[in-house]
Amino acid sequence: MDGNGRWATKRRLPRNTGHREGIKTMLGIVEHCQKLNIPFVSFYAFSTENKYRSKLEVSGLMSLMEEHLEAMADKLALLNRRLNVMGDISYFNPKLRSLIEDCVKNTQGFSGGVVNVALNYGGRDELNRAAKLMGKDEGIEKYLYTAGQPDPDMLIRTGGEKRLSNFMLYQLAYTELFFTDTFWPDFSIEELNEMIGEYNKRNRRFGK
Ligand code: FPP
Repeated sequence: MDGNGRWATKRRLPRNTGHREGIKTMLGIVEHCQKLNIPFVSFYAFSTENKYRSKLEVSGLMSLMEEHLEAMADKLALLNRRLNVMGDISYFNPKLRSLIEDCVKNTQGFSGGVVNVALNYGGRDELNRAAKLMGKDEGIEKYLYTAGQPDPDMLIRTGGEKRLSNFMLYQLAYTELFFTDTFWPDFSIEELNEMIGEYNKRNRRFGK
């Protein structure tokens, strides 16, 4: 969800106003995915590196999450989807942590799909964690945060950057990649639909 900061700066607004708009976009996209019967949707909301941003921005992001988690839980309940958190949330303050845990707990029973939200997440961290958990077991998938889920068909990165930035390094092996200069708050249902149209034209061979 890149470009929240630049979206705000362009309008001479504080960066966190961009993140607030970003949350609205995120909820709208989840709702649209429901209409399209896309059962698994993932968002990279906070990376292991994002915590090294300015104190003001990090604490602003935490407050925004605190403010919006209940709305998120309500939306998920309405859509019959469960929240799955990817990442080490022990980093967050106890209040935010318990809000996240409640949202996960309260949506566990929902069977209509999953929204993965990466919070204090890094792909390398995920792989190191999985390696420790798996011990001598074979097959790393069941130790990833996405255990039991199919690999993503599409990855969309907004904001003009063309790299993975430590997101789902294992899961994205054969994923179709889409990049757009659009800032995340401006990312629209129309643009998503166009990308899905292009996805449908691509020939996926999975190396075969
Ligand atoms: C990237 O834009 C965006 C982020 C680092 C934060 C995204 C987080 C949210 C939308 C909040 C998630 C909320 C909940 C409730 C889970 P950027 O800041 O890197 O923008 P820039 O590329 O213009 O600098």
